[in-house]
Amino acid sequence: MKILGICGSPRREGNTEVLVKEALKGAQDAGAAAEEIFLRDKIISPCLEIYGCKKDGQCVIKDDFQEVAERMIESDALILASPIFFYTVSAHTKMLIDRCQSLWVKRYLLNLPIAQGRTRGKGAFISVGATRGKRLFEGVVLTVRYFFDALDVDLIETLLVRGVDEKGEIREHPDEIQAAYELGGRLVTGLNGIGSGLGTDASEVSCHENGSGKRDEDGHASRHCRLHTMQSSTGFHGGRRHPGQT
Ligand SMILES: Cc1cc2nc3c(=O)[nH]c(=O)nc-3n(C[C@H](O)[C@H](O)[C@H](O)COP(=O)(O)O)c2cc1C
Repeated sequence: MKILGICGSPRREGNTEVLVKEALKGAQDAGAAAEEIFLRDKIISPCLEIYGCKKDGQCVIKDDFQEVAERMIESDALILASPIFFYTVSAHTKMLIDRCQSLWVKRYLLNLPIAQGRTRGKGAFISVGATRGKRLFEGVVLTVRYFFDALDVDLIETLLVRGVDEKGEIREHPDEIQAAYELGGRLVTGLNGIGSGLGTDASEVSCHENGSGKRDEDGHASRHCRLHTMQSSTGFHGGRRHPGQT
């Protein structure tokens, strides 16, 4: 099993980098071949919305996107990690996401498989933010869920950490580091695979206490979250632009 970790933080040895590396270690210890990509080292243009991809699902902008996309598609499981920047993913991460519109076109407009013979992959999202607001991760989880869907990947796990700001500060939170390690292992063993899938109309991030027993100022009790699909229904709604979108 191949597992790819993608780190979207511009900061070297930052908090998301520490967590994604730990998750990959967990995956490796569980028997996977683990690789990582740092988006800050890649030259990836924003999507230019020229839709050259409508021909065959290939993005026509030639830069490092092709290599990253190929490695994502070849992987059985993906771990995306991004810090929260203004309540969304980092710019590096968003550029990659937007370029994957070519894969969305391939999958939903051209009705082509993302890759021949590939089964739906599994994905996890790791994120860190400085503040502690209850709604801090609301937007990003939705973004990542539909980004993964364009790649034919189910978002099955999230590790969302509040209240961590300084470079490497996450190291002072061994419980979060352990959670990342365990997440990587679970992705490989597939023990907790709950597919979100297309046509999911409602989902809920169910959280458990992180061990400190403390509540933040929003009364939000936890930082480790696993995505549970609550209700699955219709699939593609005619006329709606993005199938499966909430
Ligand atoms: C441009 C920018 C925007 C940010 N926006 C937010 C934000 O909206 N909410 C938040 O809680 N933290 C925000 N932060 C703080 C980062 O999420 C936080 O420092 C995080 O730990 C960085 O992770 P990293 O070390 O992996 O880059 C922002 C930081 C930067 C540089």
